Amino acid sequence: MQSCIKPPRMNGTVEMNIDGKSLEFPTIVGSEGEVGIDIGTLRAKTGAITIDPAYGNTGSCKSAITFIDGEKGILRYRGYDIADLAAKSTFVETSYLLIYGHLPNQTELKNFSTLLTGNQMLHEGMRYNFEGFPTTAHPMAILSAMINAASSYHPNLCCEVNRKQCFPNHAARLISQVRTIAAFSYRKAHGLPTVYPKSSLCYTENFLHMMFSAPNEDTVLKPEVVRALDLIFILHADHEQNCSTSTVRTVASSQANLFASCSAGVCALWGPLHGGANQAVLEMLEEIHQEGDDGTKFLNAVKNKTGNRKLMGFGHRVYKNFDPRAVIIKEQCDKVLAQLHVSDPLLDIAKKLEEIALNDDYFISRKLYPNVDFYSGIIMRAIGIPMDMFTVMFAIGRMPGWIANYKEVMDDTDARIVRPRQIYTGENLRSYTPMADRA
Ligand code: ACO
Repeated sequence: MQSCIKPPRMNGTVEMNIDGKSLEFPTIVGSEGEVGIDIGTLRAKTGAITIDPAYGNTGSCKSAITFIDGEKGILRYRGYDIADLAAKSTFVETSYLLIYGHLPNQTELKNFSTLLTGNQMLHEGMRYNFEGFPTTAHPMAILSAMINAASSYHPNLCCEVNRKQCFPNHAARLISQVRTIAAFSYRKAHGLPTVYPKSSLCYTENFLHMMFSAPNEDTVLKPEVVRALDLIFILHADHEQNCSTSTVRTVASSQANLFASCSAGVCALWGPLHGGANQAVLEMLEEIHQEGDDGTKFLNAVKNKTGNRKLMGFGHRVYKNFDPRAVIIKEQCDKVLAQLHVSDPLLDIAKKLEEIALNDDYFISRKLYPNVDFYSGIIMRAIGIPMDMFTVMFAIGRMPGWIANYKEVMDDTDARIVRPRQIYTGENLRSYTPMADRA
């Protein structure tokens, strides 16, 4: 099969020449001018499919939630620049924006906050689910399992009418309870008694309270710590069709419920190439520190691909310029460490690694820059979040983005179940060999 594609025409089509036959396919142009070729009829017309294993060239959906221009280092939620939101918004307000498409007015924000507060308690029965985990359980395993378990306490999640009518309640319940589950899993893993949420505290304060207070003594909430964590949540709140969000949309396309879909998102996020990178960055920095290296030896191993090492927290599928979140988080990192009078040798190593990498041809030629996870772990460590909870923080932050994407799938009247095809490369037909005749 021979093929050639001509560039998009003004009339919104492209011409593809396949085996001497000229075929037309419509183009779709996004609101920021990106062009997609709609090959929905390709197989019917030619018998061929496209193949793009890691989806680097494939748009899986149209979405109005988040815009990224990876070449220019732009990230916008619902049209608002990430730097603008980071400077002026809160995580709760940003969550509303992502899910409902506009900045809330005072009444909408108040109602949303009331819904979050009203849904912060877990069903008491869930306490017994926590008991079943060994103390060695990774908090991401507990988080994913418990989000799915929470759906058992809300059977109306599964009925289509309720799924739509009760969406605002379910969305608020999930955003609120993911924080409670996260804190409970930390307390469980450390053999500490659970601390219940307090209605008088705001979202992020409440999380820190459940993490660090004791039943007989409340932790002192430092405003700079609360703001730093709130900012981390805002910066992680959505990032268009990344691995975990695509997973949520795929599960949602089967009409699975919101909790089941987002629990799958937690699993996809866990890996070190995605959200798990924040933990992997700190492990890497600690290893470099323990070896007495200033980063030079480590970077040589990365460049020589010795032991398949990577500079964790660097590189991105979409950003081929600075990740705008990394710029904000680096600034915040310096600020928080100064405010808390923390001096961390790992921050010095991170800065040294960044400086060397940004001037080294290996990284320059591959357009590898620090991503959001390069400095986020150092802030979290400074404010007392244990390393195995870093990816959980990412999951709490990403929850509104997953929910917004779930809603988009649910509201799309043309949505079909996600079901890619494949190119089969296995054996051709052969007959069954009885056991006695096998070599
Ligand atoms: N360190 C060293 N080399 C790297 C890195 C890195 N962090 N990232 C990519 N490269 C190299 C690859 O080895 C490859 O080199 P080659 O051309 O010699 O084969 C080249 O750069 C292109 O890399 P790909 O693997 O094709 O990039 P891809 O888009 O598939 O992967 C990813 C993106 C997974 C983020 C990758 O850059 C990576 O593994 N980074 C480290 C993990 C990380 O920080 N993940 C978090 C991403 S942000 C997030 O999810 C929140």
